[in-house]
Amino acid sequence: MTPTQITSQTNPVKTVEVTLERPYTVTVGRGLLEQLEIPHSRRALIYDSGLPEALVAPLKAKVELAIPLPSGETCKTLEIHAYALSELAKLNFPRDCALISLGGGATSDLAGYVAASYLRGVDFYNIPTSLLGMVDASVGGKTGVNLPEGKNLVGAFWQPRAVFLDLDTLSSLSEEVFKEGMAEMFKHGLIDVGAAIPKFYEKSDVPSPEFLEMLARSVAVKAGIVSRDPFEQGERAFLNLGHTLGHALESRSKKPDAVSLSHGEAIAYGLHYALILSHLEGNPDFSAQTLAFLKWMRPKPLPTHSFAELLEYMARDKKALSSGLRFTLLRQLGECYVSKVSLERQTQAFDIFLHSVTA
Ligand SMILES: NC(=O)c1ccc[n+]([C@@H]2O[C@H](COP(=O)([O-])OP(=O)(O)OC[C@H]3O[C@@H](n4cnc5c(N)ncnc54)[C@H](O)[C@@H]3O)[C@@H](O)[C@H]2O)c1
Ligand SMILES: [Zn+2]
Repeated sequence: MTPTQITSQTNPVKTVEVTLERPYTVTVGRGLLEQLEIPHSRRALIYDSGLPEALVAPLKAKVELAIPLPSGETCKTLEIHAYALSELAKLNFPRDCALISLGGGATSDLAGYVAASYLRGVDFYNIPTSLLGMVDASVGGKTGVNLPEGKNLVGAFWQPRAVFLDLDTLSSLSEEVFKEGMAEMFKHGLIDVGAAIPKFYEKSDVPSPEFLEMLARSVAVKAGIVSRDPFEQGERAFLNLGHTLGHALESRSKKPDAVSLSHGEAIAYGLHYALILSHLEGNPDFSAQTLAFLKWMRPKPLPTHSFAELLEYMARDKKALSSGLRFTLLRQLGECYVSKVSLERQTQAFDIFLHSVTA
């Protein structure tokens, strides 16, 4: 798999090209917020109100309208979507305006959906401020909100005009949320050896040139896959590695008898399960890597030890097909495939998984 090209410009900026019908560039660097220039006469900022004011202020100064959102996941509702649309309409923002998102993946999902739907679509610029928002949500064009019935049930594909990953914005991120992003970065390194991380990065590693390089490579993995499969008809399923069990654990952990798992924690567990399953399906065993990652991340405890219970959640997954559950598996480091797996195998893998994570 060839990652999308990364070209070095004036140090230390890197760019990743997303080669879709309307291509765009992801710029990775530091101090980008101050230099940012958006070539539209009317600009609105949609931002996470929980961000430090010092982060938001430089952008507020460059726009006519700033729309604050409730912090994090709580912004992803149809009500907040309608509120942001009305704020734009009240000021008669025209079709050739620009919307700029500043915040984590939740903010960019909401802001992207506002951009996709306002006047049937206006230009969208994304400035993710969380590591997960950078390596995952920033590329691919999926936008949307949640419903009481489930996550991400409403939305649209809407690609940004440009994405800016300013590493300086990560400095106010909590260690816990940073580690969540590391889970997706680690996943990209399993899917594509070009992005295999030489170590599990801590927040204190962010200023290093190595981190910038690895972040750009990680973004390039998603950019490459999305460029080849923009509408999730094939290869994009590889990005789902670890997410079948991961999503089930995440959902199950929201019940009152459990400790809520973050997405990244659930995915760290899910990746370990996926690699055990891959091995049982006749592929080499790489699960020592996912176990090492779990030991580093130290996620909260599993919400249940019952595979039967998790199966119910997996069957409800948005990505499950009517023809049955399919898993993304690893044939080799850097080589994924999607396959049906017998229930017996799934259960056997869960027993091994449970034994290794509770040992
Ligand atoms: N569109 C996609 O392709 C895609 C892919 C993956 C995830 N997502 C979505 O992204 C969301 C998860 O992303 P996330 O983890 O970034 O969630 P988030 O946006 O909820 O951010 C996590 C937390 O970090 C805080 N935060 C963000 N940046 C900060 C900063 N620089 N300083 C201090 N605090 C900061 C937020 O306020 C929030 O409390 C989910 O809604 C998920 O569905 C979308
Ligand atoms: Zn994920």
